[in-house]
Amino acid sequence: MTQLDSDGRLLHLLTLEGLPRQTLCRILDRAGAIRDTALGRTQKRDTLVGRTVCTLFFEPSTRTRSSFQIAAQRLGADLINFDASTSSARKGETALDTLRNLEAMGVRGFIVRHPEDGAAQMLARHAHEGTAVINAGDGRASHPTQGLLDMLSIRQAKGPDFSMRKIVMVGDIKHSRVARSDLQALRTLGATDITLCAPDNLLPEPAVSAGCRTTGDFDAALQGADVLMMLRLQRERMEEGLVTSLEDYHRHYGLTAARLKQAAPDAVVLHPGPINRGVEITDEVADGPQSLVLRQVGNGVAIRMAVLEMLLG
Ligand code: NCD
Repeated sequence: MTQLDSDGRLLHLLTLEGLPRQTLCRILDRAGAIRDTALGRTQKRDTLVGRTVCTLFFEPSTRTRSSFQIAAQRLGADLINFDASTSSARKGETALDTLRNLEAMGVRGFIVRHPEDGAAQMLARHAHEGTAVINAGDGRASHPTQGLLDMLSIRQAKGPDFSMRKIVMVGDIKHSRVARSDLQALRTLGATDITLCAPDNLLPEPAVSAGCRTTGDFDAALQGADVLMMLRLQRERMEEGLVTSLEDYHRHYGLTAARLKQAAPDAVVLHPGPINRGVEITDEVADGPQSLVLRQVGNGVAIRMAVLEMLLG
């Protein structure tokens, strides 16, 4: 399934893999330009008046679902929210039948989160012409809008030249769809100095880490780093026993204020949320002056508005 048509127009947003740099930058630029509307500082727009958008979520979510909802509303769309835990999915109805039924009611935009890799691709393949599917996280494969909002947050803090930056990604990279989308976008934007830091059993397969340094030594990785991308331990996707104890994990891979001093003095810290406070990051760092965590969340609305506009506007 390709997300681009033969003229390079975006039909769905399923992955950042292979998304042309020009398209990626156009989304970042547009999100930057509409940030005030995204954050409710100016009047909402009418770009999507008459369109109906559905958040189709088969996994829990706080930030992603609500920011897509806010984004759709600030573009004037009608919005419905499908929650697998309170719908006929409980009776065994498949994701595809759910989509087809909602399409029959005139819904044209689907924002899909699903525990299986490739779920959004599968739905996009079967959707009618004119229906747009946006992947809001599938298994451990892909979370493109999170990747985009992370790139916007880094670009705002550090400028557009990603080749100049020492980037360190830390934690459960193996199970993280955020890591996969971030790495695809970082490469597209020209980042060359990327270190993946995790215990051996949480490092990803070679196809994911290609071109990156990998290490288990967090203190060594931190030296002079400009951007620290912290990841949650994805215990729901983990076979038992990958992490011996959370205290042990925190001792080796937790970002504390003392550790952060080893990075560049103006280093910035990202985390996609939800945060396990005291495990991958301490309160002091998560809420401190170098943290971009809440800026990421605000940028999430702007990115999602830009994507919805591009696909359905
Ligand atoms: C992420 C996700 O669901 O992949 N959360 C998010 O969308 N902000 C990361 C995570 O769950 O750890």
